[in-house]
Amino acid sequence: MQDQITIAKKAAGEKAAEFIRPGMVVGLGTGSTAYWAIQKIGAMVQQGLDIKGIATSEASAQLAKELGIPLTSFAETQRLDMDIDGADEVSERLDVIKGGGGALLREKIVAFHSKQLIIIADEHKYVPTLGNFPLAVEVIPFGWEVTNSKLQTLGCVPTLRKKQQEIFITDNGNYIIDCAFGKIENPQQVHNALHNIPGIVETGLFVQMAHTVVLGYEDGSTKVLQ
Ligand code: A5P
Repeated sequence: MQDQITIAKKAAGEKAAEFIRPGMVVGLGTGSTAYWAIQKIGAMVQQGLDIKGIATSEASAQLAKELGIPLTSFAETQRLDMDIDGADEVSERLDVIKGGGGALLREKIVAFHSKQLIIIADEHKYVPTLGNFPLAVEVIPFGWEVTNSKLQTLGCVPTLRKKQQEIFITDNGNYIIDCAFGKIENPQQVHNALHNIPGIVETGLFVQMAHTVVLGYEDGSTKVLQ
């Protein structure tokens, strides 16, 4: 039996897949909510839908292959019609924190170049102000110690992400520092300040990038915000 959160994530993911039209090139997000969107897209492809996907992580590429979703890349096309991806937090202004799964850099590249970004999330991730969830920041391994110290001066409590005692390595060979800022009143300002630090490759703040947010609820219903 599926738990309530899974029902909410599945509802959001499946609803977002309804926005896809034949012939589109679609960004395939990463995480446990994007999983449901990709599953639905896989079923639609098996029923004859003609689309191509660009995956935001090795994990999502693997899932897409298993489901028979044809994949393409930026080497083949620079046209990306729609991107469907999860979130760690979504604010009322539709700003988003991503990167809980560590795929934020590829996710940001795909989202930036997509004509439309659809964010999918369960109802609990919709918040008045971002910041309860620590902000993931992808950093170059060289000098991460000084990057980490500099982050502290910006008012966050930084933690180098680890997985089973080992440093977590992203698909791009970088590290993630999770920054607990508390409430982020001005996401653009925080994003800009972080980007000024050498060694920081990307932040998990997606400011005014989402065109549409699909929230999934524990009763299986959805709400579309634009
Ligand atoms: C991956 O790096 C993330 O941006 C995910 O999209 C985000 O953490 C949401 O993941 P879940 O859908 O698993 O909560």
